[in-house]
Amino acid sequence: MEDNIKNKVIIITGASSGIGKATAKLLAQKGAKLVLAARREERLLELTKQLISKGSEVFYKTTDVTIPEENGQLILFAKEKFGKVDAIFLNAGIMPSSPISALETAEWNKMIDVNLKGVLNGIAAVIPEFVAQKSGHIITTSSVAGLKAYPNSGVYGATKWAVRELMEVIRMESAAEGTNIRTATIYPAAIQTELLNSITDKRAAEGMNALYEKYEISPDAIARIVAFALEQPDEVNISEFTVGPTSQPW
Ligand SMILES: NC(=O)c1ccc[n+]([C@@H]2O[C@H](COP(=O)([O-])OP(=O)(O)OC[C@H]3O[C@@H](n4cnc5c(N)ncnc54)[C@H](OP(=O)(O)O)[C@@H]3O)[C@@H](O)[C@H]2O)c1
Repeated sequence: MEDNIKNKVIIITGASSGIGKATAKLLAQKGAKLVLAARREERLLELTKQLISKGSEVFYKTTDVTIPEENGQLILFAKEKFGKVDAIFLNAGIMPSSPISALETAEWNKMIDVNLKGVLNGIAAVIPEFVAQKSGHIITTSSVAGLKAYPNSGVYGATKWAVRELMEVIRMESAAEGTNIRTATIYPAAIQTELLNSITDKRAAEGMNALYEKYEISPDAIARIVAFALEQPDEVNISEFTVGPTSQPW
């Protein structure tokens, strides 16, 4: 089924580290044409150079997903470079965890801006293309915190629950409208990335760091799932994947 990825034009947000970076590497290996997006240009440049040196067709575009116009420019850029967009992996996210009682309202808003509005901005930017070409694939990184409640993850989890709803409704509406847009939502558990760096609450950080040190697995596990969703034949939609360490009890 690898041929179903070869030459596909795929945009990845949050490609400068962690899950997005691991996914970029795997999809490049499988012959996808990639546009990598995130805010840290030096990271994107380094990864792009690395993938190009291995023979892949890759561009990057610095993008802040919280700014609607930058999402629109990202889609236009991909179209300019490759002529079309086949799939988008809406993966950018942050997780400044804390108990609700700490009232870290600025961090709540940031999570809503990146994890929820950022995904909506990407959707709004890409849907017109997908509707016009009557095909497209939207994949997002939710979280196990989008399936179950976790203390310290109230607002983070709320953003990730919301993403699940969006993906399923897009799929259902598109099927009804005959536009063939596929959606997939991934729910990772503890994956070794830079995600915990955004936690400012000392106790939440200690708890999360201890959990991750014990259980975390490589982001390559998520990259393989993204590839699996993309490899399916056009008429097959696989909606949801929960992926985590075998040893993680919750
Ligand atoms: N690691 C886990 O255990 C785990 C578990 C469940 C879900 N997830 C989800 O997986 C996704 C990827 O995170 P990760 O674990 O790979 O963590 P990570 O290494 O911290 O990567 C997060 C990515 O998001 C990008 N990003 C953050 N804010 C952005 C913005 N405003 N605009 C554009 N890009 C932005 C970052 O790039 P820049 O800083 O360069 O912009 C970075 O590339 C997130 O949605 C996260 O919630 C992770």
